[in-house]
Order: sequence, then structure tokens, then C-alpha cells
Amino acid sequence: MTADEGKRRAAERSLDFVENGMTLGLGTGSTAAHMVALLGARVRDGLDVRGVPTSEATRRLAEENGVPLTDLATVSRLDLTIDGADEFNPDLNLIKGGGGALLREKIVASLSDRMIVIADPSKKVARLGAFALPVEVVPFAAAALKPRLERFGCTATLRSRDGAPFVTDEGNHILDCAFGTIADPPALAAEIGAIPGVVEHGLFIGMAERAVIGGADGIEEILAPGTER
Ligand code: A5P
Repeated sequence: MTADEGKRRAAERSLDFVENGMTLGLGTGSTAAHMVALLGARVRDGLDVRGVPTSEATRRLAEENGVPLTDLATVSRLDLTIDGADEFNPDLNLIKGGGGALLREKIVASLSDRMIVIADPSKKVARLGAFALPVEVVPFAAAALKPRLERFGCTATLRSRDGAPFVTDEGNHILDCAFGTIADPPALAAEIGAIPGVVEHGLFIGMAERAVIGGADGIEEILAPGTER
């Protein structure tokens, strides 16, 4: 079984948590893309839901798949967000933002009653940090924030695309901060989040309640500490 088949399995299982009438946060990335496509099929079968996309890419995908959309001007609470992750640890703290959508992803997840992470087994780690932590910064401050972030013990690299700085859906840049391992994710999240010019970072602390992992042996599910099955 390929990683992509595992992602699809996880996406399929996550839809068991979707109920008629729900407002859903629609994640970004290759795993979330499976979920959006499968959700579209359920909508065609009569499921009544609305989605808030976490990126322009997901918006397009949802439209192509016939998933009805709404926005944060219309709703201020969501029932459930389903999204991928670049890494998650046993506490279900996450690194996200590999696809550059971390800001909208975190806003949407924070407004949701529940967040479910869908992934293939490669995303499950004992300690976060092998994946470089994406930090979204305002372009004005990007150069100066590189050494500022490196004081935390990482190597920060301005993300680029086609030879120019990568620009997020909200018009910002991303510094990818390679730590190797992150000893204390909640503490690092608080410190980086407090730096002026940092718009958001990819550490999602205490936000996900369940990880659904699709692999060759089927589905594994991990619950965040304190979550009831
Ligand atoms: C997008 O910004 C990310 O947070 C994605 O959710 C993450 O990169 C996972 O992507 P894949 O599902 O493609 O691995």
C-alpha cells in the first residue's frame, strides 16, 4: 500500500465523524484533498454540510467537487475541522504549514469545536522537529526575523518558489525553522508567537483531539490526552 492510499483511508474514516447539518473546516494538503473529494461524493448522495476552506487551493478543490462553502463572515463557529499535518507527537501536538496554509488552518481549527488530523504513518513522531517548523511572517520583517528565530536554536530559511519568496494566501512570507528536535513544543509556541512580525507559526498545541492514521494494517487512531473515545 502506498502512502497515498493510506491518506485516502484516513480521509475516508474521518468522514464517519461528519453529520448532517455540520459546518466543517476543510484542511489543506494531499491528505485533506482526499477528504474533500470524498466529502463531495457524500454531498452528491444527499449529505447537507457547509465547508470553510483553509486555503485558496482547497476552495478550488471544494468547488470542483461540489462541496457547498461558507466563510467566516457568515459563521463564527464550526463543528469540526479535518486537516492533515506534517508531524504529530503522542500528545497530538502538531507541526503544520508544509503547504503554506498554516495561518488560515489555525484560525479555522481554533474556531472549531473539534479537530481531527488525518495522516499516513510517516507523520507520527516521538518528538516534533525533524520537519522544519513553518513560521509565517510579515514581509517587512522577514529578513530581520531570520536571526531572531535562530536564537531559539534552529536554522531558518526563507521559503521560495520560482526564485522569489513564497507568498501565502494572506500575503505573507514563511521562514522554515529546522530544529531537529523541539524539546518543549508548548513553550516554543508561546515564545515564537510573542515575536512582533510573526503572524503565526505551525505548532498546533492542544488543538487536535484525534489523529486518524491510514496504513497498510488499516486504521490507527490516537486520542489527545483527556479526550473520551
Ligand atoms: C498545509 O499548510 C499543511 O499544514 C498540510 O496540512 C500538511 O502539510 C500536510 O500535508 P499532506 O497531507 O500533503 O502531507
